[in-house]
Amino acid sequence: MKSTSGKLAIEGGHPVRSASWPAWPVWDDSDERVLVEALRSGKWGVGGERVPELECQFAGLHDARFGVACCNGTIALQIALIAAGIEPGDHVITTPYTFMATALSILAVDAIPVFVDVEPGTHNIDPNQIEAALTDRTSAIMPVHIGGRPADMDRINDIARRRGLKVVEDAAQAWLASWNATPVGAIGDAGTFSFQSSKNLTAGEGGMILTNDEDLFQRAWSYHNCGRRLGGAWYDHAYAGMNYRLTELQAALLLNGLARLPEQQARRQAAMAILERDLAGVPGVLMPDRDERVTAHACHILMVRLDQEQFSLDKMRIVQALQAEGIPAHPGYTVPLYKQDFFDWFADRRTPAGGIWNELFPIPFNDYSLPVCERLCASTIWIKQDVLLAGPEQMSDVVDAFVKVLEAAREGRLSG
Ligand SMILES: Cc1ncc(COP(=O)(O)O)c(C=O)c1O
Repeated sequence: MKSTSGKLAIEGGHPVRSASWPAWPVWDDSDERVLVEALRSGKWGVGGERVPELECQFAGLHDARFGVACCNGTIALQIALIAAGIEPGDHVITTPYTFMATALSILAVDAIPVFVDVEPGTHNIDPNQIEAALTDRTSAIMPVHIGGRPADMDRINDIARRRGLKVVEDAAQAWLASWNATPVGAIGDAGTFSFQSSKNLTAGEGGMILTNDEDLFQRAWSYHNCGRRLGGAWYDHAYAGMNYRLTELQAALLLNGLARLPEQQARRQAAMAILERDLAGVPGVLMPDRDERVTAHACHILMVRLDQEQFSLDKMRIVQALQAEGIPAHPGYTVPLYKQDFFDWFADRRTPAGGIWNELFPIPFNDYSLPVCERLCASTIWIKQDVLLAGPEQMSDVVDAFVKVLEAAREGRLSG
C-alpha cells in the first residue's frame, strides 16, 4: 500500500513501494543461445568473428570510423591516452565528479590529472574553468559524460583546437548519447566506453575505444594486442603493447545486449522525462539544466540535487529514508575525486628514473578546493538506470517517496 504522508518507513511507517524493481542485468534465452553458439564455435578469443562484429556495430552506432574492443573501460582510457600521444609528465585536464578510473588512467600513463570545477546544472566539466588551468605541459582534455549526459563538446573541442590539445572523451556511462545530434565517443580525438556489470550495456566486464583517426586507431589496436601490427604477422611486435583483448563470449553477450539497447534506452528516457518534470515541482529538489544540445541522454544516472538552503540534514540520511520507502536511491560520489587517498600513494612513489614522483612533478591534490563539485557531492542523489528501466508508469513511486521524505525532513521529522 502506498503511503505518501505520515510516518516514514525508516521510522517504522508503511513504505511508498513494496514492489521490486527490474533485475539487472536483463537476460533471457537469447543470451543463453548466443553464449552456447560462441562456445560451440570453438573460437573463444583471437580469430573469432564476434569481436570484430561488435567493434563494427558499436562504432557504426556512434558514427565513428574505428572501434577497438578491450577488456574494460579503465584500460580503454589508458590505451586511448597512449594512442593519442600523451606522455609522462603531461597535464590532462579533467573533472573531479567522476569514477576513479578517469584519473587513474591518466596516472597510469605517468601523466598528471589537473582537476577543474564542474557545472552545477550538468555535473560535467565547466568549460569556463579549463583555460585558466592550462599550462605549457597540458596535452589533453578528458571530459566525462557523467551519468550519460554529454559534456559541452563544442566548447571543449574549440579550446582544444585553439591550444593544440587532444580530447579523450570518457564515455564510460554514455552509450548512444549524443551532443547536437552527434553521438559521443568520436566527437573528440577518441572516446571510451565501459561494459562493466552496472552499465546499461554489459558483459560483466569489457570496454571499447572509438575514434575517427586512423593513426590513433592503429596505435590503440596495436597496444591492446601485444603491440602487433594491424594486418601483420603473429610474431611481429612493433610496439610494447599488452594483452587487453575482449573475448568472444563477452562479444556474444554484448552484441545481443546491443540489439536490446535502443528499446531499453527509450524506456529509460521516457522514465527520466517524467522524473525531470515531476521532481522539478517538489520543494527542495533541484533538477539538471535543460539543454537542447543534449540530443540523447544515455540515462545511466539521473542526478537529483537537494537544495542545501532548505536542508541541513546529511544527504546520506535522506538516501537511507528513500531506500526505506522502497526506492533504491544511491548517494553517488560523496567527495570530489581529488580527496581520495590514492593520489597521496601515487605522489609518494619512486619514479623509474629515481627520485620521488611528487618532487619531480609536484601534484597539488591536497590543495584543491573546487566548490561546485564539493557542493554537488554533498547534495546529489542518484536514480540509476535499473530504476529508470521500470519505465514511466512506475516513476510516480519515486516522486511520491521524494515528496514524503523531503516533507518530513523540512518539518524536522527525519532525525539526523
Ligand atoms: C566515468 C567512468 N570512467 C571509467 C570507468 C571504468 O570502466 P571499467 O569499470 O569498465 O573499467 C567507469 C566505470 O566503472 C566510469 O563510470
